[in-house]
Amino acid sequence: MPQIFHRSFNTIARASIVGVVLLIAAIGFISWRVNRSAYITYVKEPLPQPVPFSHRHHTVTDGIDCRYCHTTVETSWYAGMPSTHTCMTCHSQLWVHSPMLAPVRASYREDKPIEWTRVNTLPDFVYFNHAIHIHKGIGCTTCHGQIGKMAITYRAHTLYMRWCLSCHNHPARYVRPRAQVFDPIYHRPSEKHPLVYEGVVYTRQMPLGRLLVKKYRIQSLISCDTCHR
Ligand code: HEC
Ligand code: HEC
Ligand code: HEC
Ligand code: HEC
Ligand code: HEC
Repeated sequence: MPQIFHRSFNTIARASIVGVVLLIAAIGFISWRVNRSAYITYVKEPLPQPVPFSHRHHTVTDGIDCRYCHTTVETSWYAGMPSTHTCMTCHSQLWVHSPMLAPVRASYREDKPIEWTRVNTLPDFVYFNHAIHIHKGIGCTTCHGQIGKMAITYRAHTLYMRWCLSCHNHPARYVRPRAQVFDPIYHRPSEKHPLVYEGVVYTRQMPLGRLLVKKYRIQSLISCDTCHR
Protein backbone atom coordinates (compact mmCIF):
# COMPACT_ATOMS: atom_id res chain seq x y z
CA MET A 1 0.00 0.00 0.00
CA PRO A 2 1.54 3.31 -1.04
CA GLN A 3 1.51 5.92 1.62
CA ILE A 4 -1.28 8.45 0.78
CA PHE A 5 -0.63 10.95 3.53
CA HIS A 6 2.77 12.28 4.41
CA ARG A 7 4.10 10.86 7.68
CA SER A 8 3.94 14.22 9.40
CA PHE A 9 0.13 14.19 8.91
CA ASN A 10 -0.18 11.71 11.75
CA THR A 11 1.44 14.13 14.14
CA ILE A 12 -0.73 17.00 12.93
CA ALA A 13 -3.89 14.89 13.22
CA ARG A 14 -3.00 13.81 16.71
CA ALA A 15 -2.10 17.35 17.74
CA SER A 16 -5.37 18.72 16.40
CA ILE A 17 -7.43 16.07 18.18
CA VAL A 18 -5.70 16.96 21.42
CA GLY A 19 -6.30 20.62 20.55
CA VAL A 20 -10.04 20.10 20.02
CA VAL A 21 -10.36 18.19 23.28
CA LEU A 22 -8.53 20.94 25.13
CA LEU A 23 -10.67 23.61 23.48
CA ILE A 24 -13.90 21.87 24.49
CA ALA A 25 -12.59 21.47 28.01
CA ALA A 26 -11.63 25.15 28.10
CA ILE A 27 -15.06 26.29 26.86
CA GLY A 28 -16.71 24.03 29.41
CA PHE A 29 -14.53 25.38 32.19
CA ILE A 30 -15.09 29.02 31.23
CA SER A 31 -18.87 28.69 31.09
CA TRP A 32 -18.82 26.88 34.42
CA ARG A 33 -16.81 29.72 35.94
CA VAL A 34 -19.06 32.41 34.45
CA ASN A 35 -22.12 30.58 35.76
CA ARG A 36 -20.62 30.71 39.25
CA SER A 37 -19.01 34.10 39.05
CA ALA A 38 -20.13 37.08 41.08
CA TYR A 39 -21.51 38.61 37.89
CA ILE A 40 -24.34 36.06 37.83
CA THR A 41 -24.75 35.15 41.48
CA TYR A 42 -23.83 38.42 43.27
CA VAL A 43 -21.79 36.31 45.71
CA LYS A 44 -19.19 38.38 47.65
CA GLU A 45 -20.28 41.54 45.87
CA PRO A 46 -21.10 44.39 48.29
CA LEU A 47 -24.22 46.18 47.06
CA PRO A 48 -24.71 49.94 47.20
CA GLN A 49 -26.91 50.98 50.16
CA PRO A 50 -28.59 54.32 50.93
CA VAL A 51 -26.55 54.42 54.18
CA PRO A 52 -23.16 52.66 54.50
CA PHE A 53 -24.35 50.49 57.38
CA SER A 54 -21.57 48.35 58.87
CA HIS A 55 -22.36 45.03 60.56
CA ARG A 56 -18.72 44.89 61.64
CA HIS A 57 -19.13 48.04 63.75
CA HIS A 58 -22.58 47.35 65.08
CA THR A 59 -22.34 43.62 65.85
CA VAL A 60 -18.67 43.18 66.83
CA THR A 61 -17.34 46.59 67.94
CA ASP A 62 -20.59 47.63 69.62
CA GLY A 63 -21.78 44.11 70.45
CA ILE A 64 -25.41 44.59 69.39
CA ASP A 65 -27.35 41.32 69.04
CA CYS A 66 -28.87 40.43 65.64
CA ARG A 67 -32.34 40.28 67.23
CA TYR A 68 -32.19 43.92 68.29
CA CYS A 69 -32.63 44.82 64.61
CA HIS A 70 -33.87 41.61 62.98
CA THR A 71 -36.58 41.16 65.56
CA THR A 72 -38.64 38.33 64.03
CA VAL A 73 -35.83 36.01 62.96
CA GLU A 74 -36.53 33.47 65.73
CA THR A 75 -40.29 33.48 65.42
CA SER A 76 -41.13 33.89 61.76
CA TRP A 77 -40.12 32.96 58.21
CA TYR A 78 -39.00 36.58 57.83
CA ALA A 79 -35.96 37.94 59.68
CA GLY A 80 -37.37 41.48 59.80
CA MET A 81 -35.61 44.74 59.00
CA PRO A 82 -34.99 47.53 61.51
CA SER A 83 -37.17 50.61 61.37
CA THR A 84 -35.59 54.04 61.33
CA HIS A 85 -36.85 54.42 64.88
CA THR A 86 -34.51 51.56 65.91
CA CYS A 87 -31.52 53.42 64.46
CA MET A 88 -32.60 56.63 66.16
CA THR A 89 -32.69 55.09 69.64
CA CYS A 90 -28.90 55.51 69.44
CA HIS A 91 -28.33 57.98 66.65
CA SER A 92 -30.48 60.71 68.12
CA GLN A 93 -27.57 60.96 70.59
CA LEU A 94 -24.62 59.38 68.77
CA TRP A 95 -23.02 60.75 65.61
CA VAL A 96 -25.94 63.16 65.31
CA HIS A 97 -24.18 65.40 62.80
CA SER A 98 -22.51 62.70 60.70
CA PRO A 99 -23.24 63.26 56.99
CA MET A 100 -23.28 59.48 56.60
CA LEU A 101 -26.41 59.42 58.75
CA ALA A 102 -28.20 62.24 56.91
CA PRO A 103 -30.54 59.81 55.06
CA VAL A 104 -31.46 58.24 58.42
CA ARG A 105 -32.36 61.63 59.90
CA ALA A 106 -34.31 62.55 56.76
CA SER A 107 -36.20 59.26 56.90
CA TYR A 108 -37.09 59.92 60.55
CA ARG A 109 -38.19 63.51 59.88
CA GLU A 110 -40.27 62.64 56.84
CA ASP A 111 -41.54 59.37 58.30
CA LYS A 112 -40.48 57.43 55.19
CA PRO A 113 -38.70 54.08 55.63
CA ILE A 114 -35.16 53.71 54.33
CA GLU A 115 -35.13 51.62 51.16
CA TRP A 116 -32.34 49.11 51.74
CA THR A 117 -31.04 47.22 48.72
CA ARG A 118 -31.99 43.56 49.02
CA VAL A 119 -28.90 41.32 49.37
CA ASN A 120 -30.34 37.79 49.61
CA THR A 121 -33.36 36.77 47.58
CA LEU A 122 -35.01 33.53 46.59
CA PRO A 123 -37.43 33.12 43.70
CA ASP A 124 -41.12 33.28 44.67
CA PHE A 125 -41.67 29.56 44.09
CA VAL A 126 -39.31 28.64 46.95
CA TYR A 127 -40.52 28.42 50.53
CA PHE A 128 -38.00 29.41 53.19
CA ASN A 129 -38.31 29.89 56.93
CA HIS A 130 -35.82 31.48 59.33
CA ALA A 131 -37.40 30.34 62.59
CA ILE A 132 -36.98 26.59 62.01
CA HIS A 133 -33.31 26.96 61.05
CA ILE A 134 -32.53 29.06 64.12
CA HIS A 135 -34.44 26.65 66.36
CA LYS A 136 -32.49 23.64 65.00
CA GLY A 137 -29.07 25.21 65.60
CA ILE A 138 -28.21 26.54 62.14
CA GLY A 139 -26.30 29.77 62.68
CA CYS A 140 -26.66 33.03 60.78
CA THR A 141 -23.06 32.94 59.53
CA THR A 142 -23.46 29.45 58.05
CA CYS A 143 -25.81 30.94 55.47
CA HIS A 144 -24.82 34.62 55.49
CA GLY A 145 -21.04 34.39 55.98
CA GLN A 146 -19.04 36.11 58.70
CA ILE A 147 -21.28 39.13 58.88
CA GLY A 148 -19.24 40.49 61.81
CA LYS A 149 -16.41 41.21 59.36
CA MET A 150 -18.53 42.97 56.73
CA ALA A 151 -18.23 46.73 56.39
CA ILE A 152 -20.90 46.53 53.68
CA THR A 153 -23.20 43.52 53.53
CA TYR A 154 -22.78 41.04 50.71
CA ARG A 155 -24.22 37.67 49.79
CA ALA A 156 -21.98 34.85 50.96
CA HIS A 157 -23.53 31.91 49.08
CA THR A 158 -25.40 31.33 45.82
CA LEU A 159 -28.64 30.23 47.55
CA TYR A 160 -29.06 27.76 44.67
CA MET A 161 -31.08 24.62 45.29
CA ARG A 162 -27.95 22.44 45.39
CA TRP A 163 -26.59 24.73 48.11
CA CYS A 164 -29.71 24.22 50.27
CA LEU A 165 -29.56 20.48 49.62
CA SER A 166 -25.89 20.16 50.52
CA CYS A 167 -26.93 20.95 54.08
CA HIS A 168 -30.34 19.24 54.08
CA ASN A 169 -28.50 16.06 53.05
CA HIS A 170 -25.81 16.37 55.75
CA PRO A 171 -27.01 18.67 58.56
CA ALA A 172 -24.42 17.23 61.01
CA ARG A 173 -21.69 19.00 59.06
CA TYR A 174 -23.16 22.42 59.87
CA VAL A 175 -25.22 22.38 63.06
CA ARG A 176 -23.88 24.28 66.09
CA PRO A 177 -25.00 24.72 69.71
CA ARG A 178 -28.07 26.98 69.92
CA ALA A 179 -26.17 29.38 72.20
CA GLN A 180 -23.82 30.18 69.29
CA VAL A 181 -26.44 30.75 66.58
CA PHE A 182 -26.13 34.55 66.66
CA ASP A 183 -22.32 34.70 66.87
CA PRO A 184 -21.31 37.16 64.11
CA ILE A 185 -17.89 35.51 63.49
CA TYR A 186 -18.48 31.89 64.48
CA HIS A 187 -15.75 29.31 63.78
CA ARG A 188 -16.50 25.61 63.39
CA PRO A 189 -14.65 23.59 66.03
CA SER A 190 -11.04 22.94 64.98
CA GLU A 191 -7.61 22.64 66.57
CA LYS A 192 -7.28 26.40 66.19
CA HIS A 193 -10.79 27.19 67.45
CA PRO A 194 -11.77 24.56 70.02
CA LEU A 195 -15.39 24.74 71.17
CA VAL A 196 -16.57 23.81 74.63
CA TYR A 197 -20.05 22.31 74.78
CA GLU A 198 -21.48 20.90 78.01
CA GLY A 199 -18.00 20.57 79.51
CA VAL A 200 -16.51 18.68 76.54
CA VAL A 201 -13.87 20.27 74.29
CA TYR A 202 -14.46 19.70 70.57
CA THR A 203 -11.74 20.24 67.97
CA ARG A 204 -13.67 18.70 65.05
CA GLN A 205 -17.17 19.29 63.69
CA MET A 206 -18.46 15.76 63.23
CA PRO A 207 -18.58 14.35 66.79
CA LEU A 208 -20.39 17.52 67.91
CA GLY A 209 -22.57 17.59 64.77
CA ARG A 210 -23.76 14.00 65.25
CA LEU A 211 -24.55 14.70 68.91
CA LEU A 212 -26.56 17.83 68.12
CA VAL A 213 -28.48 16.16 65.28
CA LYS A 214 -29.76 13.63 67.84
CA LYS A 215 -30.32 16.17 70.57
CA TYR A 216 -32.22 18.68 68.41
CA ARG A 217 -33.98 15.84 66.52
CA ILE A 218 -32.82 17.16 63.17
CA GLN A 219 -34.29 15.44 60.16
CA SER A 220 -32.86 15.36 56.67
CA LEU A 221 -35.62 17.12 54.70
CA ILE A 222 -35.04 16.58 51.00
CA SER A 223 -38.47 15.90 49.54
CA CYS A 224 -39.47 18.48 46.94
CA ASP A 225 -42.50 19.74 48.84
CA THR A 226 -40.33 20.88 51.75
CA CYS A 227 -39.32 23.91 49.69
CA HIS A 228 -41.80 23.87 46.78
CA ARG A 229 -45.35 23.99 48.13
C1 HEC B 1 -28.10 47.89 64.48
C2 HEC B 1 -28.96 47.11 63.64
C3 HEC B 1 -28.49 45.77 63.10
C4 HEC B 1 -27.94 44.71 63.78
C5 HEC B 1 -27.55 44.62 65.25
C6 HEC B 1 -27.78 43.65 62.82
N1 HEC B 1 -28.21 44.06 61.59
FE1 HEC B 1 -28.30 42.95 59.90
N2 HEC B 1 -28.99 44.55 58.85
C7 HEC B 1 -29.23 45.81 59.38
C8 HEC B 1 -29.55 46.74 58.32
C9 HEC B 1 -29.84 48.23 58.47
C10 HEC B 1 -29.51 46.00 57.11
C11 HEC B 1 -29.78 46.51 55.70
C12 HEC B 1 -28.51 47.09 55.10
C13 HEC B 1 -27.51 46.04 54.71
O1 HEC B 1 -27.85 45.12 53.97
O2 HEC B 1 -26.37 46.13 55.20
C14 HEC B 1 -29.16 44.63 57.49
C15 HEC B 1 -29.05 43.59 56.61
C16 HEC B 1 -28.72 42.27 56.96
C17 HEC B 1 -28.66 41.16 56.04
C18 HEC B 1 -28.95 41.23 54.55
C19 HEC B 1 -30.44 41.30 54.30
C20 HEC B 1 -30.77 41.14 52.84
O3 HEC B 1 -31.12 42.13 52.20
O4 HEC B 1 -30.64 40.02 52.36
C21 HEC B 1 -28.29 40.06 56.76
C22 HEC B 1 -28.10 38.67 56.23
C23 HEC B 1 -28.12 40.50 58.12
N3 HEC B 1 -28.40 41.84 58.21
C24 HEC B 1 -27.72 39.66 59.14
C25 HEC B 1 -27.43 40.09 60.43
C26 HEC B 1 -26.87 39.24 61.45
C27 HEC B 1 -26.52 37.79 61.27
C28 HEC B 1 -26.73 40.00 62.58
C29 HEC B 1 -26.17 39.59 63.92
C30 HEC B 1 -24.88 38.95 63.93
C31 HEC B 1 -27.21 41.33 62.24
N4 HEC B 1 -27.62 41.35 60.94
C32 HEC B 1 -27.26 42.39 63.12
C33 HEC B 1 -29.18 46.14 60.72
C34 HEC B 1 -28.66 45.35 61.72
C1 HEC C 1 -27.43 50.36 70.04
C2 HEC C 1 -26.93 51.57 69.43
C3 HEC C 1 -26.97 51.70 67.91
C4 HEC C 1 -28.03 51.44 67.06
C5 HEC C 1 -29.40 50.90 67.39
C6 HEC C 1 -27.57 51.82 65.74
N1 HEC C 1 -26.27 52.29 65.79
FE1 HEC C 1 -25.19 53.01 64.23
N2 HEC C 1 -23.62 53.32 65.45
C7 HEC C 1 -23.60 53.07 66.80
C8 HEC C 1 -22.28 53.42 67.33
C9 HEC C 1 -21.84 53.27 68.77
C10 HEC C 1 -21.53 53.90 66.24
C11 HEC C 1 -20.09 54.38 66.27
C12 HEC C 1 -19.25 53.67 65.29
C13 HEC C 1 -18.36 52.62 65.82
O1 HEC C 1 -18.82 51.67 66.46
O2 HEC C 1 -17.16 52.71 65.60
C14 HEC C 1 -22.41 53.82 65.07
C15 HEC C 1 -22.03 54.24 63.81
C16 HEC C 1 -22.87 54.26 62.71
C17 HEC C 1 -22.51 54.75 61.40
C18 HEC C 1 -21.20 55.40 61.05
C19 HEC C 1 -20.44 54.55 60.12
C20 HEC C 1 -19.81 53.38 60.74
O3 HEC C 1 -18.62 53.45 61.03
O4 HEC C 1 -20.49 52.36 60.97
C21 HEC C 1 -23.59 54.57 60.58
C22 HEC C 1 -23.71 54.94 59.11
C23 HEC C 1 -24.63 53.96 61.37
N3 HEC C 1 -24.16 53.78 62.67
C24 HEC C 1 -25.87 53.61 60.91
C25 HEC C 1 -26.86 53.02 61.66
C26 HEC C 1 -28.16 52.62 61.14
C27 HEC C 1 -28.60 52.79 59.71
C28 HEC C 1 -28.84 52.08 62.17
C29 HEC C 1 -30.24 51.48 62.14
C30 HEC C 1 -30.43 50.36 61.26
C31 HEC C 1 -27.98 52.13 63.34
N4 HEC C 1 -26.79 52.70 62.99
C32 HEC C 1 -28.36 51.70 64.60
C33 HEC C 1 -24.65 52.60 67.56
C34 HEC C 1 -25.88 52.23 67.10
C1 HEC D 1 -30.43 28.23 56.42
C2 HEC D 1 -29.90 29.46 55.92
C3 HEC D 1 -30.12 30.75 56.67
C4 HEC D 1 -29.90 31.00 58.02
C5 HEC D 1 -29.43 30.04 59.08
C6 HEC D 1 -30.21 32.39 58.23
N1 HEC D 1 -30.62 32.96 57.06
FE1 HEC D 1 -31.17 34.87 56.78
N2 HEC D 1 -31.73 34.47 54.85
C7 HEC D 1 -31.56 33.24 54.24
C8 HEC D 1 -32.18 33.28 52.93
C9 HEC D 1 -32.25 32.12 51.94
C10 HEC D 1 -32.73 34.58 52.77
C11 HEC D 1 -33.54 35.11 51.59
C12 HEC D 1 -34.98 34.81 51.87
C13 HEC D 1 -35.97 35.16 50.78
O1 HEC D 1 -35.62 35.75 49.76
O2 HEC D 1 -37.15 34.83 50.98
C14 HEC D 1 -32.41 35.31 54.01
C15 HEC D 1 -32.76 36.63 54.27
C16 HEC D 1 -32.39 37.33 55.41
C17 HEC D 1 -32.70 38.73 55.66
C18 HEC D 1 -33.49 39.66 54.77
C19 HEC D 1 -34.94 39.69 55.26
C20 HEC D 1 -35.66 38.38 55.05
O3 HEC D 1 -36.01 37.71 56.05
O4 HEC D 1 -35.87 37.98 53.90
C21 HEC D 1 -32.15 39.04 56.90
C22 HEC D 1 -32.21 40.39 57.60
C23 HEC D 1 -31.54 37.84 57.41
N3 HEC D 1 -31.70 36.82 56.49
C24 HEC D 1 -30.94 37.75 58.66
C25 HEC D 1 -30.60 36.55 59.27
C26 HEC D 1 -30.19 36.44 60.67
C27 HEC D 1 -30.06 37.58 61.65
C28 HEC D 1 -29.94 35.11 60.88
C29 HEC D 1 -29.53 34.42 62.18
C30 HEC D 1 -30.34 34.69 63.35
C31 HEC D 1 -30.21 34.40 59.63
N4 HEC D 1 -30.61 35.31 58.69
C32 HEC D 1 -30.08 33.04 59.45
C33 HEC D 1 -30.91 32.16 54.76
C34 HEC D 1 -30.58 31.99 56.09
C1 HEC E 1 -26.65 24.83 56.84
C2 HEC E 1 -27.81 24.01 56.80
C3 HEC E 1 -29.01 24.41 56.02
C4 HEC E 1 -29.08 25.16 54.88
C5 HEC E 1 -27.95 25.78 54.09
C6 HEC E 1 -30.46 25.23 54.50
N1 HEC E 1 -31.23 24.55 55.41
FE1 HEC E 1 -33.25 24.37 55.43
N2 HEC E 1 -33.20 23.27 57.11
C7 HEC E 1 -32.04 22.91 57.79
C8 HEC E 1 -32.40 22.19 59.00
C9 HEC E 1 -31.45 21.59 60.01
C10 HEC E 1 -33.82 22.11 59.01
C11 HEC E 1 -34.69 21.48 60.08
C12 HEC E 1 -34.95 20.05 59.78
C13 HEC E 1 -35.88 19.47 60.84
O1 HEC E 1 -37.05 19.83 60.87
O2 HEC E 1 -35.41 18.69 61.66
C14 HEC E 1 -34.27 22.81 57.81
C15 HEC E 1 -35.62 22.97 57.49
C16 HEC E 1 -36.07 23.63 56.35
C17 HEC E 1 -37.46 23.76 55.97
C18 HEC E 1 -38.66 23.18 56.72
C19 HEC E 1 -39.47 24.28 57.34
C20 HEC E 1 -40.77 23.78 57.88
O3 HEC E 1 -41.49 24.63 58.37
O4 HEC E 1 -41.05 22.58 57.79
C21 HEC E 1 -37.49 24.47 54.81
C22 HEC E 1 -38.72 24.89 54.00
C23 HEC E 1 -36.12 24.78 54.45
N3 HEC E 1 -35.30 24.25 55.41
C24 HEC E 1 -35.76 25.47 53.32
C25 HEC E 1 -34.45 25.76 52.97
C26 HEC E 1 -34.08 26.47 51.76
C27 HEC E 1 -35.04 26.93 50.69
C28 HEC E 1 -32.73 26.58 51.79
C29 HEC E 1 -31.83 27.25 50.78
C30 HEC E 1 -32.17 28.57 50.34
C31 HEC E 1 -32.26 25.96 53.02
N4 HEC E 1 -33.33 25.47 53.71
C32 HEC E 1 -30.94 25.90 53.41
C33 HEC E 1 -30.76 23.21 57.43
C34 HEC E 1 -30.38 24.00 56.35
C1 HEC F 1 -34.09 22.51 50.61
C2 HEC F 1 -34.91 23.19 49.68
C3 HEC F 1 -35.24 22.56 48.35
C4 HEC F 1 -35.65 21.28 48.09
C5 HEC F 1 -35.82 20.14 49.07
C6 HEC F 1 -35.91 21.20 46.66
N1 HEC F 1 -35.65 22.43 46.09
FE1 HEC F 1 -35.92 22.89 44.13
N2 HEC F 1 -35.21 24.78 44.46
C7 HEC F 1 -34.79 25.25 45.68
C8 HEC F 1 -34.29 26.60 45.52
C9 HEC F 1 -33.72 27.50 46.60
C10 HEC F 1 -34.42 26.92 44.15
C11 HEC F 1 -34.08 28.23 43.46
C12 HEC F 1 -32.66 28.23 42.98
C13 HEC F 1 -32.34 29.47 42.16
O1 HEC F 1 -32.33 30.57 42.72
O2 HEC F 1 -32.13 29.31 40.96
C14 HEC F 1 -35.00 25.75 43.50
C15 HEC F 1 -35.31 25.66 42.16
C16 HEC F 1 -35.94 24.58 41.56
C17 HEC F 1 -36.32 24.50 40.15
C18 HEC F 1 -36.13 25.62 39.13
C19 HEC F 1 -34.90 25.35 38.29
C20 HEC F 1 -33.63 25.58 39.01
O3 HEC F 1 -32.86 24.60 39.22
O4 HEC F 1 -33.35 26.73 39.41
C21 HEC F 1 -36.87 23.29 39.95
C22 HEC F 1 -37.44 22.73 38.63
C23 HEC F 1 -36.82 22.57 41.22
N3 HEC F 1 -36.24 23.40 42.16
C24 HEC F 1 -37.30 21.28 41.41
C25 HEC F 1 -37.13 20.56 42.58
C26 HEC F 1 -37.49 19.14 42.71
C27 HEC F 1 -38.06 18.28 41.60
C28 HEC F 1 -37.19 18.79 44.01
C29 HEC F 1 -37.32 17.42 44.65
C30 HEC F 1 -36.49 16.40 44.10
C31 HEC F 1 -36.70 19.99 44.68
N4 HEC F 1 -36.67 21.02 43.78
C32 HEC F 1 -36.34 20.05 46.01
C33 HEC F 1 -34.86 24.60 46.90
C34 HEC F 1 -35.22 23.27 47.07
